[in-house]
Amino acid sequence: MQRFLQTALILPVLLQLLASVIHTPSLYPYPMSHSAVQLGNGNKSETAALDKNSTSEAAPRRKRYRKSSVRRVPWSVLQSRYSGSFVIRGSGGRKLVALTFDDVPDPRYTPMVLDILAKHHTRATFFVLGSRAAKHPGIVKRMVREGHLVGNHSYSHALFAQASLAAYRKQITLTDQLLAKLTGYRPRFIRPPYGEILPRQVEWSREQGYIVVNWDVDSEDWKSIGSDKIMANIRKTLQPGSIILQHAGGGDSQDLSGTVNAIPKLLRYLRAKGYQTVTVDELLGQRGQRG
Ligand code: NI
Repeated sequence: MQRFLQTALILPVLLQLLASVIHTPSLYPYPMSHSAVQLGNGNKSETAALDKNSTSEAAPRRKRYRKSSVRRVPWSVLQSRYSGSFVIRGSGGRKLVALTFDDVPDPRYTPMVLDILAKHHTRATFFVLGSRAAKHPGIVKRMVREGHLVGNHSYSHALFAQASLAAYRKQITLTDQLLAKLTGYRPRFIRPPYGEILPRQVEWSREQGYIVVNWDVDSEDWKSIGSDKIMANIRKTLQPGSIILQHAGGGDSQDLSGTVNAIPKLLRYLRAKGYQTVTVDELLGQRGQRG
């Protein structure tokens, strides 16, 4: 009888435990490349934060995805399969690095980042969301006026790994048309949200003359961390040719003051180590415009 009672008490607990394990995000099928695994954490909060400001198109359909047969391909495979059209860093022949800022424009942080870059005579690459460019066109124009390069970060921060090719093309093309009007050119570089992109999407991009640009240095600044932690994260994998991921825009719940404070420190550090900061087109020796 006692044994029966024990079982009766433990069984529901065990079932609950099992259920929580099944719904754990760690079971979400990321490719086993280290950058993508790190992104796994980013996916959830960054999506949640950004979704507030974007269209319903961006809402991830995780349940459906888990059951679908979509297979994510590690960055290393995409790099070799689409050499030159999917890149995460430059050749490293010279001590050059590219600063990249995603999820812009954001009136809270982007003007501050632009101010600091101007003060230090540094040019960077901004990956722009079409939906935000439509709301704050003046900030995008300012980027171009001040010599920065602009790239395409989708329209509504969509998770491309869950998007059909048609939906992907729509995200890219809508943003492309908007940016062409604001910048006077058709941006060549695409930064997929969360760094996630499917082979057929890279293939279409290559055919259209785009280059997909991820990163080899993740500042993890979207976690609302302080500038010292950001600097430590950057130093971990920095090398000649590196492309550094930072954010100059975010969701309501994200505090990017760490990013803002880190930029002067980062520029000082890079100068002391003999690095020169360039835009992504200069780093890769490629045009930043299509056509
Ligand atoms: Ni992003």
